[in-house]
Amino acid sequence: MGYIGRREAAPIIVEGLKKLEYRGYDSFGVATISGGIELDKHQGRISNSSRSAAHLKGKIGIGHTRWATHGVPSDTNAHPHMDCSNRIAVVHNGIIENYAELKRQLIARGHIFRSETDTEVVAHLIEEAYEVEKDLLAAVQKIVPKLTGSYALLVIAIGEDRIIAARYASPLVLGVGDGEFFAASDMMPILDHTDRAMYLEDGDIASISEVGVEIFHEGKPVKRPVELIDWSQEDTKKGGFPHYMLKEIYEQPQAFYNSVRAITGETLPAPIRNPGSVTVIACGSSYNAGLIFKYLLEDSCAIPLRLDFASEFKYFPPPIQGLVIGISQSGETADTISALKQAKEHNCTTLAITNVLGSSISRSTDFTLFMRAGPEISVAATKSFIAQLAVLMQIINFIRDGEFEEVLRNGHRAIEEVLLMDLSEAVELCINARSIYYVGRGPFYPVSLEGALKMKEISYIHAEGYAAGELKHGPFALLSKETPVIAICMPGETYAVMISNIKEINARGAPVIALGVEGDLELAEVVDIFIPLPETHPFLQVLTTLVVLQLLAYHTAVALNRDVDKPRNLAKSVTVE
Ligand code: G6P
Repeated sequence: MGYIGRREAAPIIVEGLKKLEYRGYDSFGVATISGGIELDKHQGRISNSSRSAAHLKGKIGIGHTRWATHGVPSDTNAHPHMDCSNRIAVVHNGIIENYAELKRQLIARGHIFRSETDTEVVAHLIEEAYEVEKDLLAAVQKIVPKLTGSYALLVIAIGEDRIIAARYASPLVLGVGDGEFFAASDMMPILDHTDRAMYLEDGDIASISEVGVEIFHEGKPVKRPVELIDWSQEDTKKGGFPHYMLKEIYEQPQAFYNSVRAITGETLPAPIRNPGSVTVIACGSSYNAGLIFKYLLEDSCAIPLRLDFASEFKYFPPPIQGLVIGISQSGETADTISALKQAKEHNCTTLAITNVLGSSISRSTDFTLFMRAGPEISVAATKSFIAQLAVLMQIINFIRDGEFEEVLRNGHRAIEEVLLMDLSEAVELCINARSIYYVGRGPFYPVSLEGALKMKEISYIHAEGYAAGELKHGPFALLSKETPVIAICMPGETYAVMISNIKEINARGAPVIALGVEGDLELAEVVDIFIPLPETHPFLQVLTTLVVLQLLAYHTAVALNRDVDKPRNLAKSVTVE
């Protein structure tokens, strides 16, 4: 968040950051200009901190509340970041993907880095450009083309009565007040002061002074309309979505895209490229991600994978060697952490896959891979699950020397295509169900498990995922009109047997909702409700079917008036055994 105007900037920014905390909360910081640059930054949540940074003086300032992606949460890694001369301060939301290369070049030219962040390269690049240009806008315009990745940047410098803002693939909105201007990642902190906003577009660079805003795109001045925003605070917090869960479902294309790109030749540790065998331990949704990985890894790489619930592995550790992967979105699940410790005691190489930099899990393993889902607020895992799959699929891609590169780079598009599906007919059937069974084969079996898990945790309807062939070994006794069966039936080796299974279910009177590829008339004919999906690569079909099942659970829970984001009796992070 940034402020420029007649009032003291720091208190306004501090209050604003508290409202942005849902976007990140491991550390915070503020910088203002008052002669020199005043800076105050701390690890922890701004809302809990006794040290608030509100005391800083000056009428121009920028601030940030962080969700770590590069460098653990700490005072030093908190934003703002400064150049060597402490004349320039920068806050950044997004990921500078080529930071390692830029950092090497900057260090070779004599720059001294204080943090482990990707962001700090921006401060040093501007420092160099500013020495030549002597103008902050020109300096930012000069360095932005060197950055790849995503960024919403705010920059201030001593002797410049303005804030420079730049945006690419990360949100940035400017608030237009009376003789004062605001900049923030969303309208939430701005609405206390004004309802007039300008949304920057990708590639825009803005110079914001007390008298007005000038916006440039590819060096040329452009105008962006001032819009009136009539959202309530609560709406804004969820980006206009009624629940965090829906917002997070819609963030999945970006979570997938960022997580795929986060796993590179440099970040992938050597033992993972050529594992003799793999054991995965996890709980809940992370276990389901592990089971999808098992099917895909064994099929694509012929590497056997053993999967265990962390809570079982811990007490009954199997006689294994080699690589053990713990998957945990929170990085704090007690069972997974202690199971990994067990594995280490058995001399296994351990790898954690998590969404939280600096989380406990990463301190107990040999290696860690971070996905890039960003903070997930809703208890039901959605975007963190998709991000886990992105990382796991990238591991397969690396083991296969890049065979799936193209597919994975386009995964986000496949997800986007299904976000707007109309599921109302299926929802109608589900809200009246006594139980719902989900069936699939191969990787669609764990997709069924995850679909059923989402349904039961947020709608409170009993739901079970089954390997399609197992339904006849028991659950058939329970089938009736009130037990819809959701069948995932994609083209491939098991298509014909799935059609037979569906007919068996029909014969027992249970309605069938099928997910299949569009134009599949044979399937459409034997089911009650057909949900057509685009035909695409099998990896991406796992993603699209999952997203549809998340949406089905979500809309069913909403129709039943459930507390979607905070389902009863559940917790986001389970730190007890
Ligand atoms: C809890 C959450 C689930 C999550 C599971 C494992 O039960 O509600 O959404 O899948 O823990 O959590 P982890 O952080 O280890 O992935």
